[in-house]
Amino acid sequence: MNPIKHVAIIMDGNGRWGLKNKKSRNLGHEAGLRTVEKIIAETIKNKIKYLTLFAFSTENWRRPKKEINFLLSLLQKFLLSKINEFDKNEIKLKILGTKVFSNKLNSELKKAEAKTSNNKKLQVNLALNYGSKSELIYSIKKLKKKRLKISIKNLEDNLFTKNIPDPEILIRTGDTKRLSNFLLWQMAYTELFFEKKLWPDFNGKDYNRILREFKKIKRNFGKI
Ligand code: FPP
Repeated sequence: MNPIKHVAIIMDGNGRWGLKNKKSRNLGHEAGLRTVEKIIAETIKNKIKYLTLFAFSTENWRRPKKEINFLLSLLQKFLLSKINEFDKNEIKLKILGTKVFSNKLNSELKKAEAKTSNNKKLQVNLALNYGSKSELIYSIKKLKKKRLKISIKNLEDNLFTKNIPDPEILIRTGDTKRLSNFLLWQMAYTELFFEKKLWPDFNGKDYNRILREFKKIKRNFGKI
């Protein structure tokens, strides 16, 4: 049976969920946050060590300012209200991406990472202002600066995901089959699961079904 150490998720469909339910896109993001909490709890139950959530991409800056501000303030509120609970539940928070937000949010993010850095039960990686292509360029530039050989090991050691095993599973909700510049290097051998449901409707039952399906897959990694 395939072990699962790391699940990555593209949480797509909040905006459509908000509009479909005769509300606003922003209410969809709020509902999406409730799903985040449920899926974190379910990840712990399944003894999975890493969960990576795509919360804000480098391309998301192209959205209307009002929606960007809403998403970032939701994140700030989430950090303030949940970080003690994270810590109590032995969850480590790590940000993947460069912190280019307001001074207040940048410092909250750093504080949250520092506070939870020794926790061992689950590592939640929040991809924020994250784009896989920039991450690769950033790593290659660092190798050049450190005069290191360009090798797989050196390149991986200079990605945001240093020391994090590659995800075995990617889930993308929202009925769209694309990777949207997410963990392109790290997902070379990842099994992809595309779900019709919008992220706020995705639940623990759906998640567990995917984990069970994954366990049945024969993974060859190029062998036969
Ligand atoms: C994609 O849905 C979702 C996002 C761009 C943001 C994800 C954010 C959350 C789940 C809530 C906040 C999370 C944290 C951890 C604070 P979309 O808006 O692209 O949906 P659409 O495809 O229907 O437009």
